[in-house]
Amino acid sequence: MKPAFVFGTRPEIIKLAPVIRAFEKRGVKPLLIHTGQHYDYEMSRIFLEELELDSIDYHLEVGSGTQAEQTGIAMIKIEKVLMKEKPDVTLVQGDTNTVLAGALASVKLKIPIAHVEAGLRSFDRTMPEEINRILADHASEVLFAPTEEAKKNLENEGIREGVYVVGNTIVDAVLQNSEIAERKSRILEKLGLKPKEYILITAHRAENTDSKKNLEKLVEILEALPIKAIYPIHPRTRNRLKAFGLWERVKKIENLIVTQPLGYLDFLKLQKNAKIVMTDSGGVQEESIILNVPCLTLRYNTERPETVKAGGNILVGLEKDRALHYVNKLLNDKDFYKKMASAENPFGDGKAGERIVKILLELYEKGELRVKS
Ligand code: UD1
Ligand code: UDP
Repeated sequence: MKPAFVFGTRPEIIKLAPVIRAFEKRGVKPLLIHTGQHYDYEMSRIFLEELELDSIDYHLEVGSGTQAEQTGIAMIKIEKVLMKEKPDVTLVQGDTNTVLAGALASVKLKIPIAHVEAGLRSFDRTMPEEINRILADHASEVLFAPTEEAKKNLENEGIREGVYVVGNTIVDAVLQNSEIAERKSRILEKLGLKPKEYILITAHRAENTDSKKNLEKLVEILEALPIKAIYPIHPRTRNRLKAFGLWERVKKIENLIVTQPLGYLDFLKLQKNAKIVMTDSGGVQEESIILNVPCLTLRYNTERPETVKAGGNILVGLEKDRALHYVNKLLNDKDFYKKMASAENPFGDGKAGERIVKILLELYEKGELRVKS
């Protein structure tokens, strides 16, 4: 069997690595196609190195652009590779423009798509990611839903065939790397941070960073944090802060350490040892509950509602009063903290990658891995 992986951003590399490993364990060498949606060393290559994905077959160098430019260029370049390589299945993960481009290019060549992390919905169609998820799911032949809730979302849209609940490969990634991170990373010493004495922040989502009004709200929250905080800044946010004249204001915040985006091992170590996580990232919301760190999500909705239901995540949006209320409650109310930190991980047992590979190999053996009419 010849599987092709199409990926191009930081979270896709992290979440697909366990699936690639699982194929290799079974003696199958997958074709690796990197679109180059993310291209800075600290957004891409560092993860390929740390996760030992050194044999990328195609670097497509798509780069940045408008939604249509990025998706369109990626589609054209992916199609050329798929036409040449003729894989048996194309695997994509998540909801980026790379996913949409990979899915559309593949299905139109009648190469079946397996969508890892299928069925997530924020029910907010103004997010580019929501459009990408919906379209990728509807183009896919095999849908790997992380939870029953994701499966239900698919059912509600009439997708019932080819859906498998396997857990989320982020659990695999965390379990495979957190002990290595604990051993190897020196990030706490480097930044002068003590375990459980700081807040870890990430924010990059378009709806939070593309308008000055919203980005300013984020800065106001950062300015009001009562304890030390560390914020590895995504290039999108850095660029926006500079463009809106907010960069100097952020640099002046005394309690805040601002860094480049970090590699996975350093980031995991920081996350594991954080007192609180504040984020608008999907993957970071998931990792927080896996690592038993309370998460305050800087958004008004989430396509990971399981984390909120389990009690490990609270949506605070960009409302300073609400965000600060929960930060202070977590710092001062031990029982409240304990309850959030002990919320049960809803994303499975860390064997999602193995399950995905087993299912795909079985479908292939039975001749069922094809685009059905
Ligand atoms: C993309 C995904 C988002 C995901 C995120 C992961 C889409 C629509 N969005 O958002 O769902 O959460 O990746 O991090 O696919 N840039 C650099 N260097 C890089 C990459 C980006 O400087 O290596 C800057 C460029 O100015 C670029 C901007 O960041 O225009 C946005 O990058 P892009 O890949 O378009 O979207 P992300 O915000 O990264
Ligand atoms: N991450 C990282 N370094 C950072 C920030 C995040 O390694 O500086 C990891 C994080 O552990 C998670 C993933 O990147 O696994 C999340 O990616 P991101 O927030 O960019 O995308 P999203 O999950 O929102 O799509």
